[in-house]
Amino acid sequence: MLDLIVKNAKLQNHDCEQDIAIKDGKILTIEKQVTGECSNIIDAHGCFVTPPFIDSHFHLDATLSYGQPRINQSGTLLEGIALWGELNPTQKVEDFHARAMEFCQWSIARGVLGLRSHVDVTDENLLAAEALLDVREKMKPYMDIQLVAFPQNGYLRSPGAKQNLSRALEMGVDVVGGIPHFERNMDEGATSVRQLCQLAADKGLLVDMHCDESDDPLSRHIETLCAQTTRLGMEGRVAGSHLTSMHSMDNYYVSKLMALMAEADMQVVANPLINITLQGRHDTYPKRRGMTRVKELMENNINVAFGHDCVMDPWYSFGSHDMLDVAHMGLHVGQMTGVAQIQNCFDAVTCNAARIMQLDDYGVTPGSNADFIVLDCNTPFDAIRLRPARLYVIRRGQVISKTDRSKPVVTIEGRDRKIDFTL
Ligand code: FE2
Repeated sequence: MLDLIVKNAKLQNHDCEQDIAIKDGKILTIEKQVTGECSNIIDAHGCFVTPPFIDSHFHLDATLSYGQPRINQSGTLLEGIALWGELNPTQKVEDFHARAMEFCQWSIARGVLGLRSHVDVTDENLLAAEALLDVREKMKPYMDIQLVAFPQNGYLRSPGAKQNLSRALEMGVDVVGGIPHFERNMDEGATSVRQLCQLAADKGLLVDMHCDESDDPLSRHIETLCAQTTRLGMEGRVAGSHLTSMHSMDNYYVSKLMALMAEADMQVVANPLINITLQGRHDTYPKRRGMTRVKELMENNINVAFGHDCVMDPWYSFGSHDMLDVAHMGLHVGQMTGVAQIQNCFDAVTCNAARIMQLDDYGVTPGSNADFIVLDCNTPFDAIRLRPARLYVIRRGQVISKTDRSKPVVTIEGRDRKIDFTL
């Protein structure tokens, strides 16, 4: 007896519509016509079925705090940091918990079933870590959450950060974070990278650092992160988030850096929505776009994902956690309008991000977890173009969210005309 059959699904790499059979939370088979006993059948009507969206860079501790204790009037990074400094000490475990739990429901409704969240471990009480560890457990049936111990104010620069970060890892936080460009100088930044990578290697953990999130063309922490990755044999286990300095670096130097990144199998997360709004703020004109060199990194076979980073927090007032918004922005900022590049932007919010999080059994293939979304469109191209309804969000073979197909109606010269944007 099958648990679920999804009929007439449009899948990538298949010429015609397929049926997906699910048993015990796994995809049993994908065939043109599945036969077998099943009381639970969904007809996808030719809609595009994709593995779930994965957000490999987010901040659950700050999300949905927009307006608390006040709105970021200037919209700048500096006022955002000041706001977080005002808000964070007032927050209780229950506040972090309630906001993150609400946010996860937004994510699931948008088909995001994997999330890597940095959590600020600067506060010695580690309230956010305590709250988010519980959220991670409560959400396990619905989505995979990884937490990164993130010393927001600097691993060496912030008093107590070293001890707090180690305590957070002992509490069960999954990944070692860092922020070398925020240390006092290049030397201390490099020291922080070396110490944090060593810590991760000793504990057998992954690394994900905010690295060179600046417009400084002379910042060199990516190079250091690569060197430490290679030194410790951690190839493929280290992610560099943002890497925006690469946008402004000398081209000759980047040609060397790309080779180092490929050698270290560096995993890269760009955050287009945030990078396009926060970087280049000291520029007049010409004004830099601020996103790392996504297209060129991909051409050098370096794995790149797009993250959302923030939703309605001190740094970014917008967002609904739709990873198709992220892919759409990344495509535009990176000028990735070639046919293969459009697909690459879709991969950046799905399979590339899953690879960074090292999620097992990801994908719509036999033997994989039965985690996928039925989108109200036919192709990845239309998914990015239309950001359509997520008709069904399925986790381990169970429908965990449904959205009605949207059919906008417009009036032209007094006549009602129905427009189906999905055709
Ligand atoms: Fe971030």
